Amino acid sequence: MIDIIFASHNQHKVSEVQAILGDSFNLLSLSDINYHEEIIEDADSLEGNARIKAQTIWKSSGKTCFADDTGLEVEALDGAPGVHSARYAGVAHDDQANLQKLLLALQEKSNRKARFRTVICLIIGGKEQFFEGIVNGHISEKPSGKKGFGYDPVFIPDEYNISFAEMDESEKNLISHRGSAVKKLTNDLFLRFLKGNK
Ligand code: IMP
Repeated sequence: MIDIIFASHNQHKVSEVQAILGDSFNLLSLSDINYHEEIIEDADSLEGNARIKAQTIWKSSGKTCFADDTGLEVEALDGAPGVHSARYAGVAHDDQANLQKLLLALQEKSNRKARFRTVICLIIGGKEQFFEGIVNGHISEKPSGKKGFGYDPVFIPDEYNISFAEMDESEKNLISHRGSAVKKLTNDLFLRFLKGNK
């Protein structure tokens, strides 16, 4: 089995990606490698933050690793909240406050187009590679659904009339930003390791 570090403490995300990778790869979280320092994500782009996290872990471990960063980009708000999605309303990860602030900001706007974008930075043999996953949709007038997290209750993906928070996790993963970035990462890892390129 090949060990790969996912630069995240979020065990839920780690298990989700491990399920896609299957048993040829053994994903290690930051807790698994006893890395408990805070990594300051102060870049002004998703790419920049994914790179900071991946580079920090590469420098400390010297092992193949990757990190992700996700943002909700709203067209009428010039791409906000974007890289600031987790702390849009001030305090990090207050999903309810973030969502209310977003609905308020869009109150007078007729253009409600939005997209979720995930960027993954993989570092292998010291070289960086980026993978991107996007899902397009729009922001509803009011929240609906109780599943998921973050902005899920107000995000309606294109070609659907229900929000991410009304979908089962497996249905969301099939079309989601994170799902598609992870699939690209997985394909790349399989190709590299099948070719013996470690
Ligand atoms: P992270 O980079 O995965 O930690 O995501 C940053 C922030 O984007 C989260 O705190 C959420 O507010 C938002 N976000 C990321 N992914 C999703 C999603 O799948 N649904 C809803 N909100 C999300």
